[in-house]
Amino acid sequence: MTIDTLDGLLEEQLKDLYDAEKQLTKALPKMAKAAKDPELKTAFTDHLEQTKGQVSRIEHVFELLEKKAKSKPCAAMKGIVEEGQETIQEDASDEMKDCMLIASAQRAEHYEIAAYGTVRTIAEILGNQEVADLLQQTLEEEEQTDAKLSEISERMLNASNDSGEVEEEEEDEGELEDDEENGEEEEEEE
Ligand SMILES: [Fe+2]
Repeated sequence: MTIDTLDGLLEEQLKDLYDAEKQLTKALPKMAKAAKDPELKTAFTDHLEQTKGQVSRIEHVFELLEKKAKSKPCAAMKGIVEEGQETIQEDASDEMKDCMLIASAQRAEHYEIAAYGTVRTIAEILGNQEVADLLQQTLEEEEQTDAKLSEISERMLNASNDSGEVEEEEEDEGELEDDEENGEEEEEEE
């Protein structure tokens, strides 16, 4: 079938996203199971529920467009999910594995953010605000998930990096305090 209209383009792009979301409903439970950090586990579980809602939302969009809800295999998401599965098998510490799971999940989120931005804009240009609003809603959920994952990732990365650095706990170490003061005095007094 030749795609030569914006309607056709929107439908084609939605088929890809529909498949991508369905792949994620299968991958997220595995990622939640593999995650060791409780907050990360919860983030994956929450996003699984959200993703199920996003699948239904795409079906609703197809309905509004009076098209059959069909999916087209999304090779990109398949690759991202496969990499995520490899991560689960990796020989790594719990902390590093969690960081790798986040890295993989954020790749998936960014793919979706790009794709939802595209379909939302096409719907807007077609003057279909109802569909554009629904797609925007999912886009915002993906952005929130991405931000949440960044937050968890930063906490974990910092925790993994603080070995040997005791700068914040110099209160009971007189010598350290002196060194610090000497270094900072000039700046503070001026
Ligand atoms: Fe999603």
